[in-house]
Amino acid sequence: MPIIAPSLLAANFLNLESEVKMINSSEAEWLHIDIMDGVFVPNISYGFPVLDAIKDLNKKVMDVHLMISKPENYIKNFVESGAEIITVHAETVTHIHRTIQEIKSFGIKAGLALNPATPISVLEDIIGDLDLVLIMSVNPGFGGQKFIDRTYSKIEKTKDLILKNNLKTLIEVDGGVNLENAPKLVQAGADVLVAGSFVFSSENPIQTIHRLKNL
Ligand code: DX5
Ligand code: ZN
Repeated sequence: MPIIAPSLLAANFLNLESEVKMINSSEAEWLHIDIMDGVFVPNISYGFPVLDAIKDLNKKVMDVHLMISKPENYIKNFVESGAEIITVHAETVTHIHRTIQEIKSFGIKAGLALNPATPISVLEDIIGDLDLVLIMSVNPGFGGQKFIDRTYSKIEKTKDLILKNNLKTLIEVDGGVNLENAPKLVQAGADVLVAGSFVFSSENPIQTIHRLKNL
């Protein structure tokens, strides 16, 4: 059964309290938080004040996806704002090894994200240090985009690398996930499914989460 990580980006921000409570009462294990800076990606989302506001209310694992340039400058701040997993992008971190170690030094989990056009070969010499690999199935920056089919083979290759090295690294897939592609993603090796618009735009988000969980 996959771990389900609803993406807060698609929530109704006028009702953030009830949206977080809704996730709390669902079968989702993680809450996915997208941080965008308008530099690494062409969109700006939200930052520390919003995380601080939901920190105590949220009962799920806070899974923070940093789509910002120089994420290494803000690791401590995100830990203080409740992050339990921090994922940085391979395309924006110069010293990946150093940044991954820094995240782990706070006793939380560290992930590395790859854009759709970034080859999984960049994982080869860092996979043993990662708790999580995030495979982007859309170009980062916006919710509600169309899933890119090439993702399946990237997940398979990542899974092979993990198994070959006898690791327990989780594979998370992010972007355009729905009930149609979810079974194939799990089949390919995905452990964690991020879902934004598919969950929050559905008539019954709790049931949608249940269905994603019980494919
Ligand atoms: C995209 C973000 C995703 C996004 C997913 O840049 O990283 O987490 O919120 O949204 P959907 O599921 O709507 O594609
Ligand atoms: Zn994300």
